[in-house]
Amino acid sequence: MSEVDQSAKIPNNVDLSHDQRLQRALEHWLPMYLEWWNDMGPNGFQTKDIYLRTATSIDAGGWAHFDYIKMPDYRWGIFLVPHAPERVIGFGDHFGKPAWREIPGEYRGNLRRIIVTQADTEPASVEQQRYLGSIAPSLYDMRNLFQVNVEEGRHLWAMVYLLFKFFGKDGRDEAEELLNRRSGDADKPRILGAFNQPCDHWLSFFAFTHFTDRDGKYQLASLAESGFDPLAATCEFMLTEEAHHLFVGESGLDRVVRRSARLTRETDGDPRSVGGIDLDLVQRTINYWFTYSLDLFGGEISTNAANYFGEGLKGRFKEKHRYEDHVMKEGGKTLSVVKGGKVVEEEVPYRNAINEVLREEYMNDCERALRKWNKTLDEEGVTDIELSLPSRRFHRHQGIYAENYFNPTGDLITKEEFERNVPKWLLNDADKDYLVSIMQQVTEPGKMANWIAAPARGINGQPIEFEYVRL
Ligand SMILES: [Fe+2]
Ligand SMILES: [Fe+2]
Repeated sequence: MSEVDQSAKIPNNVDLSHDQRLQRALEHWLPMYLEWWNDMGPNGFQTKDIYLRTATSIDAGGWAHFDYIKMPDYRWGIFLVPHAPERVIGFGDHFGKPAWREIPGEYRGNLRRIIVTQADTEPASVEQQRYLGSIAPSLYDMRNLFQVNVEEGRHLWAMVYLLFKFFGKDGRDEAEELLNRRSGDADKPRILGAFNQPCDHWLSFFAFTHFTDRDGKYQLASLAESGFDPLAATCEFMLTEEAHHLFVGESGLDRVVRRSARLTRETDGDPRSVGGIDLDLVQRTINYWFTYSLDLFGGEISTNAANYFGEGLKGRFKEKHRYEDHVMKEGGKTLSVVKGGKVVEEEVPYRNAINEVLREEYMNDCERALRKWNKTLDEEGVTDIELSLPSRRFHRHQGIYAENYFNPTGDLITKEEFERNVPKWLLNDADKDYLVSIMQQVTEPGKMANWIAAPARGINGQPIEFEYVRL
C-alpha cells in the first residue's frame, strides 16, 4: 500500500499511478460520476462554500481534514486500510487459510453481487436526500447533510474501484449501471427497497441516517471480515466515515425528541399548535424506517447467506472478538415462524440463519438508542410517553414475515386490521404534508428551527454559531 497521492486526479493510496489501465478507466468514469453528481446530488447548493471534512490520509489523525470547499470540488478518493500480508481468512470453510488478494474464480459471481448491492446504496441515498438542503433547520444541520452526501459519493468510488480493478468488462458495465439507476424510479429503481423510499423531510433524514445508515454499518462490518482482502480493506475505511452519519441520525432524532417533549409540556400536549412535532409522529417515523431497514438484512432463512459465510466472503459482526467457533458447520438457531396460522418456534441450521444473527446485532444497537431517547424524554419531564421499536415481524417486505400481517407488538393480525391501522402505525402522506409545512430553511448562523433543539456542540471544535455554510 502506498502513501496517499493527493496530486493525482483521483487521490488514492492504492498506487493508481502504477496501474495505468485502471487509472485510465477510473479517469474515464470520473466525468460520468460528476455529471451524475450535478444532476442528482444536493439541489441548489453546488456553488456554495461548505465547511467539510475530506479524507486526506488514512491515519487516525490525518483522515479528517476540515476546510471550506464547494461540493463538486470535493476530492473523492480511494483509500484502503493497509492489511498485513499474512492476513488469514477468519471464518467459514477456508478458515485459517491466507486471505485472497485476487478474486477466487469460483466466487466471482457472488462477490460481484455483494459489491454491486453495497455500491448501489451509496448513490441512492444521495438521490433520496437531494432536496433537503432547502428546508434545513440550521446551517449546522445543512452542513452535516452535505457531509453525509459527499461521503456517500466517496463510498461509491470505493466500491467502483473494486469493480474496475477486479471484474474487467463486467465491472465497467456495473459501474455505469450504478450511475443509471435512480432511487424511486419505476423503470430503473435502486436495488434495495429502503433506498427507493422517499425522504422528503428532516424527520425522515434523521431516521434514515440513524436506522438505514446503521444497516450499512453492520453490512460493512461483516464485509470488513471478508476473506477477499481488498473488499475487507475498503470496507474498513468506509466504517470510519460511516460513524459520523450515524451520529447525525442518532443525535438528530435525540434533538427532535428533546424539543418535542418540551413543546408537548409547554402546550399541554399539543406541540403542533406551535409548529412542533408530536411524539406519536416520531414513533410512526421510527416504525417506518426501522422496518424498512430490517428488510435490508435479507431473508431470515437464506442459502445465499449461508454460502457467503461458508465461502469466507461475508462474516459476522466483529467475527474475531465476539465468536469462538468461526466455522459453524453444526448447530442451529431458533426462529419464530408462522405455521398453520400461528407464530411458533423452529430451529434452522445456523448458517442458514446468519442474516438473522446480524439483524439481531443491529436490533440491539437500535434498542440502545431508544433507551437514550427515552432518557431524554425523562429529562424533559415527559414521563407518560415511551418510544419503542416495533417487533421484527411488523411491516416487513422481505423474508419469512413478509407474507403475513402483524401489529407492532408482533401478533398475527388480518390484512384488514393492518390496513385500518396504517395511519396510526406508519409515517403517511398526511404526516409528510405536515412536516413539510413546518420545515423552512433557517439560515442565520446558530439559529435552529422551532421543531428541533440545538446540538450539544458544533463540528470540529467550532461553535454552534459558526457559519458552516456560506450562502
Ligand atoms: Fe455509505
Ligand atoms: Fe452512510
